[in-house]
Amino acid sequence: MGPVLYSFFMRASFYTLGCRLNQTETAVLSGAFRKKGYSIVDWHRPADVVVVNTCSVTEAGEARCRNIIRQSLRRSPEAFVVVMGCYAQIGLEALRQIPGVDMIVGTDYKTKFPAFIGEPRKLPKPVVLHSKLIDASDFEVDGTGDYRTTRANLKIQDGCDFFCSFCIIPFTRGRERSRKFDDVSREARELVAVGHQELVLTGVNIGRYKNEGRTFLDLVRSLEAIEDLRRLRITSIEPTTIEAGLVDHMAGSDKLCHYFHVPIQSGDDAVLEGMNRHYGVEEYSRFVAEVADKVPEVGLGTDVIVGFPGETNESFERTVELLDSLPLAYFHVFSYSRRYGSRASRMNGHVNPEVIKERSKRLRTLSKSKRRAFASRYLGRDVEVLFEQQDSNGLWTGLTDNYIRVGVVSPEPLRNQFANVTIRDVNDESVLGVIAEMVG
Ligand code: F3S
Repeated sequence: MGPVLYSFFMRASFYTLGCRLNQTETAVLSGAFRKKGYSIVDWHRPADVVVVNTCSVTEAGEARCRNIIRQSLRRSPEAFVVVMGCYAQIGLEALRQIPGVDMIVGTDYKTKFPAFIGEPRKLPKPVVLHSKLIDASDFEVDGTGDYRTTRANLKIQDGCDFFCSFCIIPFTRGRERSRKFDDVSREARELVAVGHQELVLTGVNIGRYKNEGRTFLDLVRSLEAIEDLRRLRITSIEPTTIEAGLVDHMAGSDKLCHYFHVPIQSGDDAVLEGMNRHYGVEEYSRFVAEVADKVPEVGLGTDVIVGFPGETNESFERTVELLDSLPLAYFHVFSYSRRYGSRASRMNGHVNPEVIKERSKRLRTLSKSKRRAFASRYLGRDVEVLFEQQDSNGLWTGLTDNYIRVGVVSPEPLRNQFANVTIRDVNDESVLGVIAEMVG
């Protein structure tokens, strides 16, 4: 029997750790396994192939990866277990020590490895598909993402040349490179054809997109031309990479979501220098002010790292003051933790973990009140929501284009439907409304 016949009855499951880009790559792999005849099952259920897509962003993150691998081996002791992703790229030796792993897949082989799995039988020792030097050329993605969510991610770029001192990604994913323009369009069209109305552009450093002379803005313009695509969203984009014209384009676009997530990381110039961030507080503030001024109803978010080596009480207070004063709708707060191998781990001035905990708490509280203040602007007003799912409280929830999550009560399923919703209540946990009308 050929591989397609025996794999007809096979089950594959996935566990994804780390960032949105990892989720994106898992979705493409899920599509590839489906194509091979596998059915995709929940990770909690027994499977014939289990893929763990790992993250190396912190040492605690790597420990969690090892834990998930061991749990996978316990749940499906007969399964062919594949460990892939960032930790597989830089933690090969540690992963070889885990008995029961059958395949370790580094960055270059991430989307290629399904082709090498014939009959998934357990092996006496792991096969390793890995190259130390990661390919730096522009790339294509073989396949199309298989998403259970209404929004679909679209990978356009990989790797990074910025070498922030706290970050390991240039070593796990390699140097920056872009996905071929036509291949991005091909997958975008396929995703829209199967019903996705919102696509989220994803990569490590997406503002650096460049392929055969075409830039990020060229790509945005060409994707907006896909007829049945209703929304295109930019995820995290580095402040120094936003090309001239993108803000004005967003201001006038009815498809490109009025939303920016631009990591600031600290509100103190000395800390930013230690992080090797290549911009200062003034430049960042100018950019945010320009966006808020030009883009109607824009939702602006940021990331901030608390307790980076050298962050004094004074520098932290400057960060609090700045974040409070900027027109931001929310921020994601990351507590700094030492990452072996990063430049920051060898720097002086490490901050006491208890102090980091306290500072993080303060910023999270501030973010909550900013989020609430931003959403409160819409009390009594109508907003357009693309509904995604029913939450554990029975509310149907979805997002506005400027990234407010809104919940409504509905007897009818609302998945993947647009509606105008009148906002009635805003609190720290949720934004609630009633449907004014469905939008076709
Ligand atoms: Fe983690 Fe790699 Fe993403 S280190 S955050 S999975 S790029």
